[in-house]
Amino acid sequence: MNEYFWFGNIAISLDQKLGKVNTRTNISNDLDFKIVNDFRNNICAIGVGSNTIMVDDPSLNVKEHLLDGKKVLSQPTVIIFDRRGVVTLDKEIFKKNNNRTIIWVNNTNVGHELPKNIHLVKGVDLIDIKNKVENKLSDIGVYGAIMIEGGASFIHSCLSEGVLQYLRIFSNDKIIGQNGVQFRFNHLTNYKLIYDNKLDNGMEYIYKLNSK
Ligand SMILES: NC(=O)c1ccc[n+]([C@@H]2O[C@H](COP(=O)([O-])OP(=O)(O)OC[C@H]3O[C@@H](n4cnc5c(N)ncnc54)[C@H](OP(=O)(O)O)[C@@H]3O)[C@@H](O)[C@H]2O)c1
Repeated sequence: MNEYFWFGNIAISLDQKLGKVNTRTNISNDLDFKIVNDFRNNICAIGVGSNTIMVDDPSLNVKEHLLDGKKVLSQPTVIIFDRRGVVTLDKEIFKKNNNRTIIWVNNTNVGHELPKNIHLVKGVDLIDIKNKVENKLSDIGVYGAIMIEGGASFIHSCLSEGVLQYLRIFSNDKIIGQNGVQFRFNHLTNYKLIYDNKLDNGMEYIYKLNSK
C-alpha cells in the first residue's frame, strides 16, 4: 500500500473569511506567499475544489522568483475535486503550454478525448475518492505529500472526514465583512493546535489531527 501524506493550507481574514464570494481575493502576505510557494516546491500534488478553479482561476504553480535562489524542483500534479463536472477547459490550469499533469475528479461524461496529461477519476464519497486519487498517483509514478489549498467547502469536507493530517492557517489582520466565504472552526474539533507564529501583519497556526 502506498502512503501519501495529506495536509491543508489556507489563508483567512481576521473575521475568518477565505475570500469574498465569487471574487478572487488576496489574503496572504509576502512571507506567507513564500512559505506556500516552498510547500508547492516540495510536494507531489496540490488539490483544490471546483469552485476555486472557477472563481480564482489559479495557476497553482511554483514561482521561481519566490524561492530565494533555489530551483524549481518540479511543478506539482494538480488534483481538481469536481464531482459534478462544473469546471470548464478554458481555465488557466488546462492551458496547453502549462502541460501540467492533472487528476480531474469528475463524474460526468466528458464526451471527447482529453490530452494525455489529464487523468479522469470518478467517485462521490470522499474516502473512496482519496483512495482512487492515491492509486492514480501511484500508477503515474508520483509519490509524496499532497497539499489541499481550498476552497471552503472542500477543506471543510476534508477536515470532517479526517483526510488531512495537518492544517496550516495563515490569518491576516484584514476584515472582509459580510460578503465573505466563511471558514468554520467547528470542523477542527478533531484537531489540536500545535504551533503558532507571527508573520508580519498576520499569524500562522498549525493544527494536527488527533490520533485515534
Ligand atoms: N483563502 C484561501 O486560502 C483560499 C483558497 C482557495 C479558495 N479560496 C476561496 O474559496 C472560495 C471557493 O470555495 P467554495 O467553498 O465556494 O468552493 P470549493 O471548496 O473550491 O469547491 C467546492 C466543490 O468541491 C467539491 N467537493 C466538496 N466536497 C467534496 C467532497 N467531499 N468530495 C468531492 N468533491 C467535493 C464539490 O463538488 P460537489 O458540488 O459535487 O459537491 C464542491 O462543489 C473562492 O471564493 C476562493 O477564492 C480561498
